[in-house]
Amino acid sequence: MPDLSAILSRHMGVEGPLLPILHDVQAAFGCVSAQAQEAIAQALNLSRAEVHGVVSFYHDFTEQPDPRPCIQLCRAEACQARGVEALVAQAEQLAGNTIRIQTVYCLGLCSVGPAARVVNGLVGEQLQARLDADKLAQMVASL
Ligand code: FES
Repeated sequence: MPDLSAILSRHMGVEGPLLPILHDVQAAFGCVSAQAQEAIAQALNLSRAEVHGVVSFYHDFTEQPDPRPCIQLCRAEACQARGVEALVAQAEQLAGNTIRIQTVYCLGLCSVGPAARVVNGLVGEQLQARLDADKLAQMVASL
């Protein structure tokens, strides 16, 4: 069972703790709920609006859990130059309502893009380099 106070304690005294806390809470609970946002705001002496603003600004954070597996497509410059935009419509069509397609900006595979990452609670994370239409279809079929 994830423990919010343990996550908060781990980051107290560290400079700029809000984003690391939000990442840990998202990973542990599958979302950053309104309750968690309130506790984080209190712990960091911030307003709830400040915490909510950060949660709603970044695509990495969700306020509700989403149990669907997710395919993250990198749409940053290097992957754009290598053709990721041509795969976005196919990804959304193949995913339908059962898989979440999420845009991210850089997965660290810039020289071998387009890059993608499958995030699936059952099997963890899996990176894919040199994404093309066939590999994308295989990724979707594997979920
Ligand atoms: Fe896509 Fe870095 S720009 S992996």
